Amino acid sequence: MKKLIIINGPNLNLLGTREPEIYGSLSFTEFLEKIKEKYPNADLDYYQSNVEGELVNKLHEVGFTYDGIILNAAAYTHTSVAIGDAINAIKTPVVEVHISNTFSREEFRHTSYVSPNARGVILGFGLQSYELAIQSFL
Ligand code: DQA
Repeated sequence: MKKLIIINGPNLNLLGTREPEIYGSLSFTEFLEKIKEKYPNADLDYYQSNVEGELVNKLHEVGFTYDGIILNAAAYTHTSVAIGDAINAIKTPVVEVHISNTFSREEFRHTSYVSPNARGVILGFGLQSYELAIQSFL
């Protein structure tokens, strides 16, 4: 049994209602129920915060005991040196995910402080990006 956590950053609590043409119309809670059933070999936790420091705290908290972290740092991906440093400071590997293909969007989304320190990056497959990350750990 692999102990994994999905960590979602700012505004991702609004999935399902936020810009559905980009992010889809399924809420994350609905999606989470489905994937928990689909991957019984994953002991899957979930955390979401809109606050940068809380995301750093969570990375520290899980980063020495969990088998894998699936991180969608959302807008902080493009701005947060602190989240990039936190990934370097912990032991648990991080897979960076994005729902949208950030490279087909605005220029400011083409930079990531997460990618250089991540084991891998999965983006552009909608919510399936999270599933592919889970599969990579299993
Ligand atoms: C996102 C892409 C980011 O650029 C954006 O700020 C988000 C969501 C994604 O999953 O596609 O909030 O991380």
